Amino acid sequence: MTTHEDTMSTVITNIATLVTNDPSLGDNSPLGLVRDAAVVIDGDRIAWTGESSKAPATDNRVDAGGRTVLPGFVDSHSHLVFAGDRTEEFNARMSGRRYSAGGIRTTVAATRAATDGQLEANLTRFLAEALRQGTTTFETKSGYGLTVEDEARALRVAAAHTEEVTYLGAHIVAPEYAEDPAAYVELVTGEMLDACAPHARWIDVFCEKGAFDGDQARAILTAGKARGLHPRIHANQLSHGPGVQLAVELDAASADHCTHLTDADVDALANGSTVATLLPGAEFSTRAEWPDARRLLDAGVTVALSTDCNPGSSFTSSVPFCVALAVRDMGMTPDEAVWSATAGGAAALRRTDIGRLTPGARADLTLLDAPSHVHLAYRPGVPLVAGVWRNGTRVV
Ligand code: NIG
Ligand code: FE
Repeated sequence: MTTHEDTMSTVITNIATLVTNDPSLGDNSPLGLVRDAAVVIDGDRIAWTGESSKAPATDNRVDAGGRTVLPGFVDSHSHLVFAGDRTEEFNARMSGRRYSAGGIRTTVAATRAATDGQLEANLTRFLAEALRQGTTTFETKSGYGLTVEDEARALRVAAAHTEEVTYLGAHIVAPEYAEDPAAYVELVTGEMLDACAPHARWIDVFCEKGAFDGDQARAILTAGKARGLHPRIHANQLSHGPGVQLAVELDAASADHCTHLTDADVDALANGSTVATLLPGAEFSTRAEWPDARRLLDAGVTVALSTDCNPGSSFTSSVPFCVALAVRDMGMTPDEAVWSATAGGAAALRRTDIGRLTPGARADLTLLDAPSHVHLAYRPGVPLVAGVWRNGTRVV
C-alpha cells in the first residue's frame, strides 16, 4: 500500500448530514444535503459524494460517527497583515464612543514599525486560529502600510500563505498626505501600484467618508484593472455612498459591508454580478446597525458572509460566530448563512473549485461535532469543528 497521501483515496463514511452545495447531488435545496452520506477524497480532490451504502472502495476509511461534513469555510474578506492591537479603542467604543476610519492610523504606525518576521508570525497565528474553526480558504489585504515599501511587503507576506491577496493601498489617505489626498491617490495608482501588482490578485478601496470618495475610488479601481488586478470594494459600511453602485458598474467581484443601502443599491446588486459580502463581526464590534441580509436575499442578490478579521473593527477569525450572528440578527436562515459562508465566499472570490463538495472540487472539508449544519447557529460560541481537511490532507 502506498503511503503518499496525494495518491491515496479516503472515504469518510457515516456522515449524518453532508452539505455539498450542489442541489443536483442532494435534496434539491441550495445546500444539496445528503443524509447518511459518504465522501471520497482522491489526492487533493473530491472524487465522489453520495449515500454511505453506495460508497466505492478506497485505501482508507474514516468514520464520521454520525456527525456533519460541509465544505471548508471560504473567508473572502480579512485584514491579517498588521501588528499591535486596538484594545483601548474597543474599550472606548464599548463605553459609547463611535467607530471611525481614523483608528486605522494606530495600526498603520504599529505595522510600519514591525519587522517582516513579526508580521509573518502574526499572520500565521491568525491563520492557524481560523483553520481550527473550519476556514480552508482566506483572502487577505494590505492596507496598514500605506507606503510603497510597506504595502508591497504586506502583500509579499500574504502571498506566501494564500492566492487570494488584495492590494488595499487605498485604505485611508496615508498620514504624510493628509493635506494632499490627490497626491496620495496618484501614488496609489502609480508607483505603489507598480510595486504591489505583481503580488496581488485583487484591488480594493475603502469608499467612505474619512477615507476615499466615489471619484477617487473609481480612479483607483480603474487603474488597478488596467494592471490586471480585479476590483472588490469596502462600500456603504458607515453611511450611504456611491461604493455599491460603483462596484456593480466596474464588475467588482464583491461589494463588502453593504450596511447602509438604498433601494437603488439593492437593485444594482440584484441586476449585476457583484456579490454582497456581509461582515457581521464589524457591526458586532462597533455596536452598529446590522446589514439587512433578508432584504438582499429577497431581491435575489448573491450574499457572502465573512469575518473581516482586523484589529480595529472586527477582531474575530471565526466564521461560525459570523454565521450565528447572521442568523440571529440579519434575517438569514441557518441554511442561507451556511451557504453564504462556503459557496457565497467562493462566489465572492470568483472561484468554482472551492465552497462545494462535488466531484473535481478541491478536497477542503470541515467535520462538525453536530448532527447537522444548523448547529452552527443553534450552538453559538461552541467549538464544534472536530476535523478539517485541506487539499485532501487532514490538518485538524
Ligand atoms: O473592513 N472598513 C475599513 N477597513 C476595516 C477596518 C479597519 C480598521 O479599523 O483597522 C473594515 O472594517
Ligand atoms: Fe474590511
